[in-house]
Amino acid sequence: MHLHAAFIRLIFLAVVVPVLAYTALSDETLAGLPSSNGDFNIKDGKLLAPILRTRIPGTPSIEIARHFFLDFFHKELPTWKITLENSTQQTALGKAITFVNIIATRDPPWAQNGDVGRLALVAHYDSKLTPDGFVGATDSAAPCAMLLHAARSIDQALTKKWEAMEKSGDVGLSAEKGVQLLVLDGEESFISWTDEDSLYGAR
Ligand SMILES: *[C@@H]1O[C@H](CO)[C@@H](O)[C@H](O)[C@H]1NC(C)=O
Repeated sequence: MHLHAAFIRLIFLAVVVPVLAYTALSDETLAGLPSSNGDFNIKDGKLLAPILRTRIPGTPSIEIARHFFLDFFHKELPTWKITLENSTQQTALGKAITFVNIIATRDPPWAQNGDVGRLALVAHYDSKLTPDGFVGATDSAAPCAMLLHAARSIDQALTKKWEAMEKSGDVGLSAEKGVQLLVLDGEESFISWTDEDSLYGAR
């Protein structure tokens, strides 16, 4: 009987547990989640309102959003390494546009380039050309604002964790785990979505 119960438990652990993609969050966990403090307010939220506007690739409108992201990291998260990945491509409109992906990375201070495993969080920041005035609030201004919020929420915890790891000497290869945000340009199509007219910068 005991053996049977143990066997059942083994089956449960081996088969059922890995399939459960979530666990219920406790009230304590929920209460401890970082608050948005109005950052996502569509009128004056610090992280969302500035990018809730058209963001059309290759135009000044997307430069405003890009400037906002770069400014955010410069002022609020200066330890994150920012890389711009530019690519110039012919679009379905028949003209070449330079797409600018923004890559923000924070790695353990001892990490060697090439050895780091990273949790990558991705959203695109360009908005569709049509209909006129389309701001792409959920697609994808809000996800971009969430990435900034997530990065800011974990920044101090990463610093503390890595300082403690350095102190205890726990800095081996397996400890080389960083975080990367990919804020991508040129996901949308210009005319209608096809393999050729889409994913210009965001591929
Ligand atoms: C990429 O594009 C941005 C925005 O136009 C520009 O500021 C930057 O200098 C470019 N970087 C490279 C390496 O060309």
